[in-house]
Amino acid sequence: MNLSQLNEKCLDCRACGLCEGRTNLVFGTGNENAKIMFVGEGPGEQEDLQGLPFVGRSGQLLDKLLAAVDLSRDENVYIANIVKCRPPKNRDPLPEEQDECIKWLRDQFKIIRPKIVVCLGRIAAQRLISPDFRVTRQHGEFTEKGGVLFMGTYHPSALLRYPENKEAAFADFLALRDKIEELGLK
Ligand code: URA
Repeated sequence: MNLSQLNEKCLDCRACGLCEGRTNLVFGTGNENAKIMFVGEGPGEQEDLQGLPFVGRSGQLLDKLLAAVDLSRDENVYIANIVKCRPPKNRDPLPEEQDECIKWLRDQFKIIRPKIVVCLGRIAAQRLISPDFRVTRQHGEFTEKGGVLFMGTYHPSALLRYPENKEAAFADFLALRDKIEELGLK
């Protein structure tokens, strides 16, 4: 199965209550052959309206950080979320909603086979790296799991709220650029 076939299947998903409130399901976007994948938490208002991940204010910041290290969603990364439907009032997705939805992300991983996965924020990092992951303490660290490197960094929405952390987040993106070069992923 390719990514667009998986997307088609996912569009019918009604596995949890989040499907009730969606305008659009937000499957993911980017290059199917990307070596680098970014995973956020779940769609916000703009993402729900447009059916694409990270297209609101936090998405603009993400695109700037990507551009600063020669990455772009149109070229060499793939971007998805832990849950594909918007949680009401942008609350954190519940563990049971994440449990239902994570199978889609696993299937996306199987098709894309990224070499590096960057977790944007606590929800993704705790789900994909370690349940006790602390962004403030562990951001920028690479952890190997099953031949894939995982790194957690600040969520772009958190950076909009706390701009004092932008410098640290930028350093994480520079570390990502170094890792991409070291591994010859470009
Ligand atoms: N925040 C997320 O975690 N994901 C999006 O797609 C948009 C905002």
